Order: sequence, then C-alpha cells, then structure tokens
Amino acid sequence: MHSFASLALFALPLLAAVAPVVAQGGQICGPGKLCPASAPCCSEYGFCGSGHFCLGGCNPLWSKSPGSCEPEPVCKDATHTFADNSRILSNSTQYNGNATGYDWVVDKGQVINTNQNGGELALLLTQTNGGTRISSTRYVHYGNITARMKTSKWAGVVSAFITMSDSKDEIDWEWPGINTTQAQTNYFWLGVANYSANHGSTINGVSDTYSNYHDYTIDWQPSQLVFSIDGKTVRTITKESTLNGGVYQYPTTPARVQISLWPAGINTSAPGTVTWAGGMINWNDPDYVAAGGHFSNVISSVTIKCADPTPLPTNATGYVYGANDTTGIPTILITNHTTMTNGAVGGFAGLGAGALGFSGVWAVVAILGGVVALL
Ligand SMILES: *[C@@H]1O[C@H](CO)[C@@H](O)[C@H](O)[C@H]1NC(C)=O
Ligand SMILES: *[C@@H]1O[C@H](CO)[C@@H](O)[C@H](O)[C@H]1NC(C)=O
Ligand SMILES: *[C@@H]1O[C@H](CO)[C@@H](O)[C@H](O)[C@H]1NC(C)=O
Ligand SMILES: *[C@@H]1O[C@H](CO)[C@@H](O)[C@H](O)[C@H]1NC(C)=O
Ligand SMILES: *[C@@H]1O[C@H](CO)[C@@H](O)[C@H](O)[C@H]1NC(C)=O
Ligand SMILES: *[C@@H]1O[C@H](CO)[C@@H](O)[C@H](O)[C@H]1NC(C)=O
Ligand SMILES: *[C@@H]1O[C@H](CO)[C@@H](O)[C@H](O)[C@H]1NC(C)=O
Ligand SMILES: *[C@@H]1O[C@H](CO)[C@@H](O)[C@H](O)[C@H]1NC(C)=O
Ligand SMILES: *[C@@H]1O[C@H](CO)[C@@H](O)[C@H](O)[C@H]1NC(C)=O
Repeated sequence: MHSFASLALFALPLLAAVAPVVAQGGQICGPGKLCPASAPCCSEYGFCGSGHFCLGGCNPLWSKSPGSCEPEPVCKDATHTFADNSRILSNSTQYNGNATGYDWVVDKGQVINTNQNGGELALLLTQTNGGTRISSTRYVHYGNITARMKTSKWAGVVSAFITMSDSKDEIDWEWPGINTTQAQTNYFWLGVANYSANHGSTINGVSDTYSNYHDYTIDWQPSQLVFSIDGKTVRTITKESTLNGGVYQYPTTPARVQISLWPAGINTSAPGTVTWAGGMINWNDPDYVAAGGHFSNVISSVTIKCADPTPLPTNATGYVYGANDTTGIPTILITNHTTMTNGAVGGFAGLGAGALGFSGVWAVVAILGGVVALL
C-alpha cells in the first residue's frame, strides 16, 4: 500500500462522476448561492426545486435553509441481500422519502438481477446510459459498512462503493477496471478536493477483484476511519490526523451508501481521469458484445452496522442539520418528523422551520471533539 498525492492518479470526488438523469431546469445553487422560497431545495446536482429535490442528496447548506430538505432517514442495522430486486426502486425521481418502502433507489442507469448464487445485483454500463448508480434510502451517521462485491475489469470502466453525505463528506472505495489486483481508497471533507493531503491511497495485491467476491469495508467511526478487505485492515485514518488550522477535516455528516459503475474512459472526461481509469472504453469489447451490450459489476450483499454517536431515541425518523459549530462544521440533530415529501401531518419542510427553528428535535450531537450533548 502506498499513497499518491498526484491529481492525475485519482479521480475527482465521485459526486462529479455520474451526471444527472436529465438536465434539471431551474435556478442553480451552490456555495453562498442559496435557493429561493419558491424552489427551496438544492439537489445534489446543484439545481433548486421542490418535491424530490428535497430528498436524498438535498444539500442543507445550499438550500433556502437547512430545514428545507426533508429529514434524512435514520440508520438501521441491516444486511441487504438481493434474492430479487423488490427492495430497489428503479427510478429515484419517483421516490417519496419512505425508506420503509425501499432500501435502494436507482439514481441513474439500470440494474438487473443475475438470479445466480441466491440472487445478485448487477449494475449496468452501456454506451448510452452513462453508467448506473444506486443510493441507500437510509443514511449512516457513522457506521461499519461492508459491500461484498465483484468489480468491473475493463479499461476506462470504474466501479465504486462509497458513502456520500448531502454536504459532500465522502468516503470511497474505487476500482479502475484496468487493474483487478488493486483497490483505491479516498475521502473528502465537505466537498473539498484536497489532493495535497494524501487522501487517496492504493491497496495492491488483491486477488482478482473481477472474478472473486471480496468484502470491502468502510468502518467510519467518530474517532477514526478504517478500510478493510475481507476483515483485514488495509488503511486507518484517525480524526486527529485530519486536524488542519483548528478544523478537523474529517467526514462527520450523515451519508448515503452508494454503489456505481461509471464510464471514466470517455471523451468528455478530463484527460487525467481517463489516464487514471486506464484509457478509453472499448465498446466493441467481446465481453460487452457477449453480454448483449453492457458491462457490469455484481453485488452480493451490503451490511450496515450503525454507530450513531448518541443512541437513536424511540420513533426517531431522520437526521437534520443544525447550526455550525465554532469551526464551521454542521451539527446534526435527530427528529421524529416525517421524511416524506407528501407527509402533510408533521411535514418538516411544510412547517416553514427556519434554519434553527426545529421543533420535534431531541438531540444535538456536538461534533467537535466527539462530545455528545443531549438537549
Ligand atoms: C422516472 O420517473 C420520472 C417521473 O415519473 C419520469 O419523468 C422519468 O422519465 C422516469 N425515468 C426513467 C428513466 O424511466
Ligand atoms: C411506507 O412504506 C411501507 C412499506 O411499503 C408502508 O407499509 C407504509 O404505509 C408507508 N408509509 C407511509 C406513511 O406511506
Ligand atoms: C490540504 O491538506 C493539507 C494537509 O492537511 C493542508 O496543509 C492544506 O491547508 C489543505 N488545503 C486546503 C485547501 O484545505
Ligand atoms: C496492476 O497493479 C499491480 C500492482 O498491484 C502491478 O504490479 C500491475 O502491473 C498492474 N497491472 C496493470 C495491468 O496495470
Ligand atoms: C466492521 O466490519 C468488518 C467486516 O465485517 C469487521 O471485520 C470489523 O470487525 C467490523 N468492525 C467493527 C468495529 O465492528
Ligand atoms: C471520442 O473518442 C473516440 C476514441 O475512443 C474517437 O474516435 C472519437 O472521434 C471521439 N469523439 C469526439 C467527439 O471527440
Ligand atoms: C412513538 O410513537 C407511538 C405511535 O405514534 C406513540 O404512541 C409513542 O408515544 C411514541 N413514543 C415516543 C417516545 O415519542
Ligand atoms: C456552515 O459551514 C458550512 C461548511 O463549512 C458553510 O458552507 C456554511 O456556509 C456555514 N453556514 C453558516 C450559516 O455559517
Ligand atoms: C415526536 O416528538 C415530540 C417531542 O418529543 C412528541 O411530542 C411527539 O409525540 C412525537 N411524535 C411521534 C410520532 O413520535
């Protein structure tokens, strides 16, 4: 295992990797550019809207107020298997925020079930679909997450298993298909792509990631982040080591689990991204043709063991963003309001709650120093 600091060797944060399903109209939002009351929610793609814009990916920091986004469904211990695809909603824009109804949504692209080995989920990449990404409907606010999966193996085709928060704290496993004995790890803090901090690191000597199932783990705890393969630790990042100018540049905000298969080796990618991924994709690859016109990667299971810094109260439904702490990092609150866009009764977004006007909020988790304060 060794670290790279070079921009050319690691891809951009994955939020850029899978483009929006359709160009979403409406006002653009971003740092310092918050959404208006008429379209209060800033989607993960940086467009203002309402309805499903206020669900997974809604950025509380760039929306009209943090309370514009629906609460983020709380973590639940689970082992997700794929005997069939009934727990997966194939079109995320039809999702209404009911995390009891579905475990995953397809943000883009297509999934199939291999119907082998008791059922496995395959994410498809075709020349026209731009790749596939699924997101968990629930969030993890610290937790131990393991994906048992097989990666892609083709130049330019990248597999990823990550956690991504709505304010763009990100923890990554990535596999550029060109090399099936390597796995790459990375993390980003609030969307800051700091390549000088040796965030990216490559694990060598993994046995054929395409042919073999491996357990890839992101063990994200308040004090440290541990990556492991098949239960063996391959990288540890302590929160303490991320201290920079009085700020812990460490992921602290609730995140969805995302798995994707994406085309890095295409004309529209930056040259460094294409090189990193092993070159341009060959759409005439015999594997692509034999499969009927797609590349794929395969997921057998995803296990999530929640590690909330304070136990979730009975009836807790969602995480919401509170005020920033003194170092500019959002605090996380827990609510019992509905997480659904149609949840009229107790509807959180419908209450017109100001940034700090949360009612039905029980707990404040003070991130700094891992201190937990109960209100
Ligand atoms: C997903 O659903 C939306 C809303 O019903 C629809 O406009 C869109 O075409 C659907 N997308 C796909 C790929 O089916
Ligand atoms: C959420 O989905 C579950 C499972 O489909 C269903 O039983 C429940 O009624 C739904 N909740 C709401 C509020 O619609
Ligand atoms: C990136 O990280 C390094 C090492 O922690 C730090 O010195 C530098 O200030 C950071 N840069 C930014 C833009 O945060
Ligand atoms: C894959 O990475 C290994 C190091 O883990 C290296 O020895 C090998 O040459 C690489 N293979 C390709 C095709 O780049
Ligand atoms: C996290 O999960 C991995 C894989 O199942 C396991 O090896 C490890 O012991 C777990 N860590 C903790 C702290 O539970
Ligand atoms: C895209 O890249 C391919 C090589 O893979 C090349 O043949 C083609 O001309 C390029 N198209 C554009 C629009 O640059
Ligand atoms: C949890 O919800 C149930 C059903 O709405 C209610 O009866 C109970 O009082 C709630 N518990 C708490 C601690 O809020
Ligand atoms: C809170 O911190 C975030 C990230 O540092 C920043 O983008 C946001 O503007 C801050 N919010 C306020 C109200 O200061
Ligand atoms: C939500 O919490 C509030 C404040 O503790 C409580 O009054 C209310 O009954 C709770 N609602 C549910 C559905 O649990």
